[in-house]
Amino acid sequence: MELLTIGTIHSPFRESVGTPVQPSSAQPAEGKIEVFAPFTEGLRDLAGFERVWLLFWCHRARPARLSVVPYRDTVERGLFATRAPARPNPIGLSAVRLRSIVGNVLHVGELDILDGTPLLDIKPYIPLYDSFPAAARTAVISADDRFEQEPLTPAE
Ligand SMILES: C[S@@+](CC[C@H](N)C(=O)[O-])C[C@H]1O[C@@H](n2cnc3c(N)ncnc32)[C@H](O)[C@@H]1O
Repeated sequence: MELLTIGTIHSPFRESVGTPVQPSSAQPAEGKIEVFAPFTEGLRDLAGFERVWLLFWCHRARPARLSVVPYRDTVERGLFATRAPARPNPIGLSAVRLRSIVGNVLHVGELDILDGTPLLDIKPYIPLYDSFPAAARTAVISADDRFEQEPLTPAE
């Protein structure tokens, strides 16, 4: 498995203390996402989405512990039942507000991410897929194999 850093997240937050814990609690918390040159072609058609998912590497996270007390709790919980950034693979996931795109820079709001965080991926936030109010359920839409590698050859 290989991960590529596709950009850098620039935010007003230099340390965890005082940084919002989720986009929903982060207003305005404006910042910029700088996408590196080899990847900018992939930004075509992204403008106009209200939000984007950012997947990022929490590069300043402590080593993972499998029991943690989440920010809005007083009781230890299993790590995977929380959104704590210190994880075996410290991947963060935030649906931030997309203000505009100028060249290779996304102007975003509602950040809960530290300045200088390496960016792993960007995906559009699509309410049809990403929000689950009871009234928004639709028929099943299934994937095909267009993004999947060839199956591995079974070991002999
Ligand atoms: C609770 S996490 C949630 C992140 C994301 N929304 C998620 O659910 O995966 C948000 C906190 O992670 C911390 N954080 C953000 N960027 C980080 C980074 N690059 N390294 C370590 N900690 C980070 C900040 O303290 C921030 O308040």
